Amino acid sequence: MKKVVVSTGGGDAPGLNAVIYAVVHACYRRGWEVYGSRSGYGGFLDIDEMIRLTPRDVEGIYAIGGTILGSSSKGSPFAKPIQNLAGEVQLVDMSEKIMKNYRRMGFDCHIVIGGDGSLQIAQRFSQMGMHVIGVPKTIDNDLPVTERTFGFDTAVSTATNALDKLHSTAKSHDRVMVVEVMGRDSGWIALYSGISGGADVILIPEIPFDLDSVCSKIADNELREKHYSIVVVAEGAAAKGGEVINKGRELGREDVVLGGVGEWVASEIRERTEKDTRSLVLGHLQRGGSPTTFDRLLALRFGAAAVRLVEEDMHGQMVALVSSRMVSVPLEDVVTGRKKVDLNSDKIITARDIGICFGD
Ligand code: F6P
Repeated sequence: MKKVVVSTGGGDAPGLNAVIYAVVHACYRRGWEVYGSRSGYGGFLDIDEMIRLTPRDVEGIYAIGGTILGSSSKGSPFAKPIQNLAGEVQLVDMSEKIMKNYRRMGFDCHIVIGGDGSLQIAQRFSQMGMHVIGVPKTIDNDLPVTERTFGFDTAVSTATNALDKLHSTAKSHDRVMVVEVMGRDSGWIALYSGISGGADVILIPEIPFDLDSVCSKIADNELREKHYSIVVVAEGAAAKGGEVINKGRELGREDVVLGGVGEWVASEIRERTEKDTRSLVLGHLQRGGSPTTFDRLLALRFGAAAVRLVEEDMHGQMVALVSSRMVSVPLEDVVTGRKKVDLNSDKIITARDIGICFGD
C-alpha cells in the first residue's frame, strides 16, 4: 500500500482537475491512499490543509476548470514572505518544515502538477529526498521536452473563438483590431490561434517585430480592398531594438502583465496608418472554463501515467507527451528554460504561406 499526495501550483490551467481525478482513481484502483495538499505546499505547512481524497470527492471534476485544491500564490516555499510581529515582511525558508511534515505524514510520493516555477521547486525538494513526480501544466505550452502541456488547447480554442467574433465587428467598422493573448516567454497561443482565427499579423516573442512591416501589411490589405485587419500579439512580444513595451515589466511589476504590448501596438498603428484601431486583452479568460476534449484526455493520461511512475518507484521524473506517447523524463531536464516556437516549424511556414505577417 502506498500513500500519495498531490498538489497544484502556479497559474491555473484547464485540465488540473482532470489530472487530480485520474490520480485519485488510479491510486484507489491499486488500494492506495491519496491526499491533496491545499494551495500548493499549504498542506505541508499546516496539516489541516491536507485533505484525504476519495473517488467520491472527485466525481465529475474532470470536466471542470480551475483546481479543487487551490493553487499556491507566486513565491517559493524556499523564500516565503512572512510578516513578523513588528509588521515587517521577511523571506523565510520553509523547506525543512515541509520535508518534516512530508516524512511525518508517511507519504511515498508527491505528485506536483505545475509549470516551470513549480517544477523547479519540486526538483529542489527531490534533491532534499522527497519522492516527486511532475505533471506539466501551463496554458503557454512552453515547458521543454513534452510536446504539449494541458491547458494549451483550451486557451487556443478560447482565443480562436474570440478572433472569429472580432472579424465581423472589425469588418463592419473598417477597423484594425489588436488582440493581446497570453504568452510571456513564448508565442504558442498567439501562433496557433492566429493561424486558426484568420489573423493578418502575429507578433511573438521569438520574432522581434518592426512596426513598419506590420503597417505595410495593413496597407496591402487596403490595396486589396480589405479594409480591416486582425493583429494578434503575444504579451511577451517585443519590437526590434529591444524597446520595453510591457508596462508591467518596465515598472518591475510581475503582477502587471495586462494592457501592455497590445495597447502600444494599437496606438502606433493608429498613428502611423490613421486607421481606426482598437485593442483588447484576452487575459485570464484564456485560463478559465472547461478543458477541451483534447486537454481532458491529455490531463487524464498524465495523471494515470504519474501514478504508474509511483508504482515503479521512479522519482524525480516528469511525465511528458513525446511522439504522441506517454514517457517520463528527469525533472532536471525540464527545469532548464522555456520551450520556444521553432521558427522553421511547419506552423510558421504555413502562416507565411497563407500571407500572415510576423513583423520581421
Ligand atoms: O500561466 C502563465 C500565464 O498564463 C502567463 O502567460 C501570464 O503572464 C501569467 O500566466 C499571468 O498570471 P497571473 O496573473 O496569475 O500572475
